[in-house]
Amino acid sequence: MREWTRDERYQHFEEVPQDKLEALKAQVKQSSYRQTFHIQPESGLLNDPNGLIYFNGEYHISHQWFPLGAVHGLKYWYNYTSKDLVHFEPHGPILKPDTKNDSHGVYSGSAFEYDNHLYYMYTGNARDEAWQRHASQLIAKVNQDNSLSKFPKPVIAQPPEGYTQHFRDPKVFKRGEDYYAIIGAQNIQQSGRVVLYRSTDIVHWQFMGELETKLTEFGYMWECPDYFNLDGFDILMFCPQGIEPDGHKFNNIYQAGYIIGQLDVENLTMNHADFNELDNGFDFYAPQSFIDENGQRILIGWMGLPDINYPTDIEEWAHCLTIPRILSIENGKLKQRPIKTLKQLRSNEETALGYANKYTRQLHPYEGRQYELIIDVLENEATEIYFELRSSRQQSTLIKYNTREQMITLDRSESGPLPSPVEGTSRSTILDTQLSQLQIFIDTSSIEIFCNNGERVLTARIFPDNEATGIKTSTESGQAYLKFTKYELKEG
Ligand code: FRU
Repeated sequence: MREWTRDERYQHFEEVPQDKLEALKAQVKQSSYRQTFHIQPESGLLNDPNGLIYFNGEYHISHQWFPLGAVHGLKYWYNYTSKDLVHFEPHGPILKPDTKNDSHGVYSGSAFEYDNHLYYMYTGNARDEAWQRHASQLIAKVNQDNSLSKFPKPVIAQPPEGYTQHFRDPKVFKRGEDYYAIIGAQNIQQSGRVVLYRSTDIVHWQFMGELETKLTEFGYMWECPDYFNLDGFDILMFCPQGIEPDGHKFNNIYQAGYIIGQLDVENLTMNHADFNELDNGFDFYAPQSFIDENGQRILIGWMGLPDINYPTDIEEWAHCLTIPRILSIENGKLKQRPIKTLKQLRSNEETALGYANKYTRQLHPYEGRQYELIIDVLENEATEIYFELRSSRQQSTLIKYNTREQMITLDRSESGPLPSPVEGTSRSTILDTQLSQLQIFIDTSSIEIFCNNGERVLTARIFPDNEATGIKTSTESGQAYLKFTKYELKEG
């Protein structure tokens, strides 16, 4: 792996000669792993989604970006707008590390509307001569011409007393007439927490305190919090770091999940059920939510994780965002479904109906590298059902369903080169009900599997060869009656 010096990592890309940047972009374009309907960086590294909002008839979507290579260097916000969350217009970097308080990165943050204007609150990451971190929360206003004006000084200049400089990722929300910011934090005992601030004028932010939950020993840092009310339930999402694996749970390096219950914002307490992961696959982190034009709550995540090397790193780019998901609560449980507008990308529908049994069947003319596949399980007497996607002689990405255990498994051990270091090559989760449907989105180098109409999602980057396009099905023993519906997906 290429070694980056500190100077290289903290270089402003504006200082790099234009022809070098063009050459970098041209090189990245050549990659055989480029996605077709996911937001991905034109070069360098993408991480957290930032500043998500529907404002003035358009969606605004930004993400953390280091342009010069696949490494966590000096971070910018790269921005897109969209009318439908399927087609995205790129606008390049909008927030830049160009002031004293964000000299070492414009870190993650959120968007909000105030007085008919769009604002961003984000974390300024600064390092002093001794390379000590200083975190503050900053606000920038989006002007009529889409340029940004940063407020002259931080609105929250430092962490509250009793917390370390790991203090970041403000999510602003409004309740009544007041604005709140919920911020990821670490207390001086090195436990992850979230803290809340309140404002009426968005300039003065008053520290309210720490949100009390049952999770008092739950990792050393909580990143990227989000809070919202959905169908009468309060949901706090965050990304705890430092959680030990527990059976099928928490097997990735860091977690992204939520607690659901009731938040008392005056008393800063939350009654809640257990922490659940939002995704049971491999590559999902730092999700953020916003309200769409129809009033639905939409979630977008980073399809990647910190501190992991990915096969595209040597091509000087890494990661993408997930497809947007609609959130809802049904019978007290959080459901996630793909946004409906993705149907615009569908073409060439193929359907097939038949039995799967222990003799592997390759579906014809079913194949491809970018498609949506819906599998309805109409009857199931099999002990285990297997679906092999992106398959060739040497490769396949395996989805396995164990009927007795009601367990779905994604196995990427034969999917091509693997991200590393990653614990294990499969991820499993027990469904709430027997498997009735899988809705699968395959892009050139990713798979997103929605189980049982929103009950569970498993997301992973996979890096199969171009020739690995086959779709196969079989069972361990016994048979299953299946309906396949496949659509090719056009470029987003
Ligand atoms: C999460 C994170 C955030 C931070 C950003 C920096 O992936 O570490 O906590 O703001 O990435 O890029």
